[in-house]
Amino acid sequence: MISLYDLAIYLGMYQLAWWLYRTLSLVFRTFFGTKCTTQRYGHDSWAVITGGTGRLGRATALHLAREGFNIVLIAKTLPKLNQVAKEIQEMTQKLNKPVKTRVIVQDFSKDFNAEAFEKLYNDKLSDIDISILINNLGIGQPGSFLEAKEEDLHDVVTVNTYAVVLLTQQVIKSFRKRYEQRKQRSLMVNTSDMAAIVPSPYHATYAGTKIFGDFVAQGLQHELYKYGVDVCAWRAGEI
Ligand SMILES: NC(=O)c1ccc[n+]([C@@H]2O[C@H](COP(=O)([O-])OP(=O)(O)OC[C@H]3O[C@@H](n4cnc5c(N)ncnc54)[C@H](OP(=O)(O)O)[C@@H]3O)[C@@H](O)[C@H]2O)c1
Repeated sequence: MISLYDLAIYLGMYQLAWWLYRTLSLVFRTFFGTKCTTQRYGHDSWAVITGGTGRLGRATALHLAREGFNIVLIAKTLPKLNQVAKEIQEMTQKLNKPVKTRVIVQDFSKDFNAEAFEKLYNDKLSDIDISILINNLGIGQPGSFLEAKEEDLHDVVTVNTYAVVLLTQQVIKSFRKRYEQRKQRSLMVNTSDMAAIVPSPYHATYAGTKIFGDFVAQGLQHELYKYGVDVCAWRAGEI
């Protein structure tokens, strides 16, 4: 009969081994994993970043610009978009590796239908060689579930789920074309959250939308493999 003390030791060892494994794989991926470079995804190609003026979106845009990708930023507020685009241009000029930028003003909580996203793609994205789509945009749920207003719940769910799949569907058609015509690989990333795997009281609806993006990415990873599309979701806040 195993004692409680022994059980606690075994559970502790299991946890320790698990975290050690996670930490070592993070180190391995950081130094030896697939790199997000223009060699892999195409020179003079473009990265599209939704919510590109926010904390993680701006940082992602600056990182990809440093790697040599031209950048499309999508958000609601034009002055903020112009500010981040200017920052990218100044930074890459200083590095002597200037990239191009494009800003798109779009409110993802409005115009919710496939035609609106098709129009967005046709009017503003179809003329460039997109190699990377970062579905970074995600909005939080203000207040507790009981007190949340209907329109806030609507915005959290639609922006964090429907917009992701509608925009993705438009962009991955061009990814498929790149691969069929030029054997050129592409990348799609959904920004998820630790809340996707940890129950989150007071953020329940938001957390539900985050597991949605996470799960969509896991499925598409297999579905789009044959078109040379690397797909992943990253849970911000998780190692
Ligand atoms: N920050 C964190 O600690 C954290 C942790 C875990 C996961 N995440 C995830 O990371 C992603 C980015 O989060 P963040 O904290 O960096 O965001 P943030 O700083 O709050 O920025 C939000 C971005 O989304 C844009 N935006 C908001 N509502 C929009 C709408 N209706 N239509 C179009 N654009 C809209 C904003 O543009 P405007 O300024 O023009 O409104 C801004 O660019 C989200 O998916 C979030 O779930 C973040």
